[in-house]
Amino acid sequence: MRSTFRRAMEFRSVMIGRWSGEGSGWYPTIADFDYHETVEVADLGRPFLTYRQMTKASDGSPLHTEVGYLRFVGERQAELVVAQPTGISEVLTGWIEDRAGGYRLALDSTQVGHTPTSKPVAATRRIFLLEGDVLDVEFWMEAVGQPMQQHLRSRLRRNP
Ligand code: HEM
Repeated sequence: MRSTFRRAMEFRSVMIGRWSGEGSGWYPTIADFDYHETVEVADLGRPFLTYRQMTKASDGSPLHTEVGYLRFVGERQAELVVAQPTGISEVLTGWIEDRAGGYRLALDSTQVGHTPTSKPVAATRRIFLLEGDVLDVEFWMEAVGQPMQQHLRSRLRRNP
């Protein structure tokens, strides 16, 4: 563990856990929707954390899911790699900022990978706002010919 990354390591320790809550989504090309989200952030004893997200619709049917790794690479620097069953992968880099009572991590994609049949996503942005036992998540994307704009927002609470 690179303990010199003090702020990153403090953020890392409070991210670990299981989070769940409600979210909503929209985009100019699709109908608005709501979802239930669960995020599991786990520590394997290495500087990175494993990240696993699952969502379901109000009728219980599964929606989007993704897995990845959150890497801490500097005093306030983090990197995220995420793979999705839709054939899309994201590589993002970002910064951890202090917020009253918590942290804000904003990450922007440096690369978005596609399988031959996936939808075109040119760029993404992810924001995690962590205050106490509440984790607010935003997802933005430049996709299907639309400019960068928000697709998702959710509010998760730490599970006991
Ligand atoms: C909480 C996670 C997410 C949920 C619940 C979710 C849900 C949805 C739903 C319900 C739709 C409309 C129906 C459909 O095309 O399947 C949609 C469309 C789409 N989503 Fe998401 N999504 C999530 C995350 C993501 C992420 C991470 C990306 C990209 C990296 C993404 C990219 C897209 C694209 C490109 C479309 C198609 C837009 C179009 O065809 O006009 N979504 N999403």
